[in-house]
Formats: sequence, C-alpha cells, structure tokens
Amino acid sequence: MKMEKKNLDWANLGFGYVKTDKRFVANYKDGAWDDGVITDDDKVVLNECAGVLQYAQTCFEGLKAYTTEDGHIVMFRPDLNAQRMHDSCERLEMPPFPVDKFVQAVTDTVKANAAWVPPFGSGATLYIRPYMFGSNPVIGVKPADEYQFRILTTPVGPYFKGGAKPLTIKVSDFDRAAPHGTGHIKAGLNYAMSLHAIVTAHKEGYAENMYLDPATRTKVEETGGANFLFVTKDGTVVTPKSNSILPSITRRSLVYVAKEILGLKVEEREVTLEEVKDFAECGLCGTAAVISPVGKIVDHGKEICMPSGMEKMGPTIQKLYDTLTGIQMGKLEAPKGWIY
Ligand code: COI
Repeated sequence: MKMEKKNLDWANLGFGYVKTDKRFVANYKDGAWDDGVITDDDKVVLNECAGVLQYAQTCFEGLKAYTTEDGHIVMFRPDLNAQRMHDSCERLEMPPFPVDKFVQAVTDTVKANAAWVPPFGSGATLYIRPYMFGSNPVIGVKPADEYQFRILTTPVGPYFKGGAKPLTIKVSDFDRAAPHGTGHIKAGLNYAMSLHAIVTAHKEGYAENMYLDPATRTKVEETGGANFLFVTKDGTVVTPKSNSILPSITRRSLVYVAKEILGLKVEEREVTLEEVKDFAECGLCGTAAVISPVGKIVDHGKEICMPSGMEKMGPTIQKLYDTLTGIQMGKLEAPKGWIY
C-alpha cells in the first residue's frame, strides 16, 4: 500500500506520543464485544468509578508497523501480540478480544494511519498500542462488567536516547514481579509499580534497572520494558528463563534467528547475577527496545563491564540486530508467518 507520508522530521523522532488520525474502539457489554469502529476521537470519557481507575484493571500490547524498501507497509507477528493479550486478559479476569479480530483491527488501524508510518530508511517506525480497560463503575473489589478495547498508533524513534550506544544499567533494589504474580503478562500495574524504580535509576544516571527474581534475588529477570540477552565468550546466546518474565515476542524471534538463521547455540535457562561478569555481550530486547546493547551493569557500586565496551554493539548482538531488522524491513527473507 503506497501513499503520501505526513511531513514529520522522521529521523529525529523520540519514543513519544504523537497524535495520529485514527484509532480503533470496541466495547464489551452484556457479555459480548461489539464489532468496533475506526474513529477520529482520541478522547476516552469514563465514569469516575470505572474499574480501571479504581483497581487498575487494564492490560496492553506493543507492536510496530514498518515501511519496506519497496514502499509496502508491514507488521511483525501481530498474531503473537493477540495471543499474549488474550493471556493477559485471562489472568486479569477481563474478556479476551478474539485473536483473529485483534489482528484485523490492528491491520485496519494501521491502514487508516498509513500516512503516519515512517518511510523506509528513516530509522523510525509506527508503534501500535492495543489496550483494554474495565470501563463501568466498580467499588467492591471485583472485575468490571464492561470493557473498552482500543488501538492507538504513534510514530516513534529509538526507545533509548543515543540509539545504539551501549547503556549503563543498575541492579535494582526493587522487585518487578511477585512469585506467582503478574510478571508474565502485560498488565498496566506491572509498569505502574516500576515507575519509582525507573525514576530513581534515571536520577542516579542509569538508563534502566535490572530486576532480579523476586524469590531469591540472585537470578536475572528483565528490565520491565525489555528482556535480557547475553552472549558467552564462545558465542552462545543465553537468555533468562523464569515464570515472572514477560514472554517478549522480540526475544522469541531472536532466539529463532540465532538458532535457525545464524546457526548459533542458544540456551534459555536461569542466569545468575554472579555469572554476568563472565559474559562477552549483553543486550536488552523488546518491541520498543529492538536490541539495545548494555555496556555496564552496576550492582551496588560494583561495576560489571561488558568486554564489548561502551562505544558500540558487540559483534553477535550486532548480527542479531541486523538480521531481525532486515527481516522486519523486508530486506531479508522472513520465516513463514512473521510478516503481515
Ligand atoms: C514494548 O516494547 O512494546 C513495551 O511494551 C515496552 C515499553 C515501551 C512499555
């Protein structure tokens, strides 16, 4: 699909909200979802006692649309976002939006905002944010009876300022998730409770927090906005396995790319904080982060410096980045079913 693009300074976009023309809205009432509509109206009007406002009954997703070299607009694995949101809804006692309708609604919203999908080569993408919340009044602690599912889009640049420059992160004193809690789903409350930790880290000059496992605080989990990937000195890709990590679609895709396309050895296993000093490279991966290199991890004053340094991505992370973004931008052949 080709069309005239909006006149934005695409190459200098940050990761922020820019109001685009259209959004999708569907409502759940009397036990059923309506068909939903694409609308111009960016305002949400809620009762003062809406479930989302009282008990944070909300979850969301994040995915991106890209313009390929030949001018097509594509999305990356939206079916996996649909399924993950389904899982989030089940855990939060919310009515899942059907997976096929989710993919159709995301497709329709992107088509309606085609002029806002950044051009090929600009370094920017259209971030797509599906989200759902309890919308009717709730005062006793119980699930809402009515919900709204919306999809907004916004053109974005890199999640971390400085783009591909390695980040310095700190080992957090806060926990992100409880054992048997909601760490594995995309609940808004997971992100609300991370705000104090992130603001504290930023004040101290760090880009992000490394959260440890909530039960023993000895194993690496994630940063809240992204999952970890490490590379050993012999080139094996290692990524933490835990029930309280968000199952990142980017991470799952990178594991496939590493194994099946680059022929690398991959281990999904528990990773202790103690062994991080022995790795050669470290990166943060997610829809927003893509893969952002980590150069230094500071654990209560003790510096763990990645041998890949503070200037550029390490060689394996760079290969993973080039292959994944090559697939997303249509420059490399995609595994079946990845590109819509
Ligand atoms: C994403 O990568 O899409 C996320 O949801 C992380 C963050 C922007 C909340």
